[in-house]
Amino acid sequence: MTDLFSKFDPLIQQREDLLATGVTDPYNLVMEKVISPTVAICNGRETILLGTYNYMGMTFDEDVIAAGKDALDKFGSGTTGSRVLNGTYQGHKECEEALKEFYAMDHAMVFSTGYQANLGIISTIAGKGDYVILDIDSHASIYDGCKMGDAEIVAFRHNDIEALEKRLKRLPAEAGKLVVLEGVYSMLGDIAPLKEMVRVAKENGAMVLVDEAHSMGFIGEHGRGVAEAQGVIDDVDFIIGTFSKSVGTVGGFCVSNHPKFEIMRLVCRPYVFTASLPPSVVATAATSIRKLMHGSNKRAHLWENSKTLHKGLRDLGFTLGTEEPQSAIIAVIMPDLEKGAMMWEALLEEGLYVNLARPPATPAGMTLLRCSLCAEHSSEQVGEILGRFERAGKRVGIIG
Ligand SMILES: Cc1ncc(COP(=O)(O)O)c(C=O)c1O
Repeated sequence: MTDLFSKFDPLIQQREDLLATGVTDPYNLVMEKVISPTVAICNGRETILLGTYNYMGMTFDEDVIAAGKDALDKFGSGTTGSRVLNGTYQGHKECEEALKEFYAMDHAMVFSTGYQANLGIISTIAGKGDYVILDIDSHASIYDGCKMGDAEIVAFRHNDIEALEKRLKRLPAEAGKLVVLEGVYSMLGDIAPLKEMVRVAKENGAMVLVDEAHSMGFIGEHGRGVAEAQGVIDDVDFIIGTFSKSVGTVGGFCVSNHPKFEIMRLVCRPYVFTASLPPSVVATAATSIRKLMHGSNKRAHLWENSKTLHKGLRDLGFTLGTEEPQSAIIAVIMPDLEKGAMMWEALLEEGLYVNLARPPATPAGMTLLRCSLCAEHSSEQVGEILGRFERAGKRVGIIG
């Protein structure tokens, strides 16, 4: 018998080697108590959270929590069914109404996660004989959506407008084409040149899908994302998003102005063949989305936090993923996995949690300490974060 697990041997070995150095397992952290969007108890110690994607800090918003409790009382703990059978409650419709208003779009479809939104939309609209043209650094859910559909996949170099154009020009003029982009790329925190890319896509007869998972609520005048900030939202055919970041709960969605969009509810398998979100979740999401429409003060504070942290880390001598802060993600590049894990642990001992990201999730084989800021981080906390980075960085020998 061939052990089907033998393919994981190299990864098991790499993990064992890392743990043999005595470092704490970076992928086994438990939040023992969560005090606020920015503070939790980890290993018995009060820890500042700097790796949650809770950009707008909505998880402890009073109105959001009250809406969730109320829905739990009135509608029960779960729907026990698909959206197309017994799983569409008033709350799911209200959530879709909130999304339509938030994006000023005609249609909104809520999925159980953002992963399923990408999986469902991409695999359903791009089928046999069609082409999906995507940035090589796309999120796993985008790649999986491509795999699940039967379209031909054409990848182009990260954020390279010319490469996108070249690939598009090589494809048959009459073929169906979907260009898939992200507003913010979550590993390095860099944004896409959507203005140019959407133009190139349209000039070459392609439809455009933009995943705004890491920009919703924060980037753009109304928090609609990078497509809004760069003035091309009206030319984007589909926007994908998640409730697991700025919205502060769980779930995913697609919004669109396509006149035939509603047919997706019958043909999109990751929408049809899974249970819908619990009533408490859609109630928290709808309340949060409506509050995000009026979040301009929070957006401004989050930009301030991002700029201060980016400059502070650079001044300390860390190598960062972007020259300038482009989003609420700031990636600190580590020399290798071992040093990255040591630095991650040293930060945790200082009382600071960040994400340790490593290949294959990262581009170019990089090990990254990914920091994601929250609008609820106070200026004092950002100062404290910089002090903890300095002490840990010197201890591990990342900075002098
Ligand atoms: C770009 C991007 N798209 C989609 C997702 C999936 O979102 P969810 O957590 O709702 O499944 C993520 C989450 O990490 C993401 O970063």
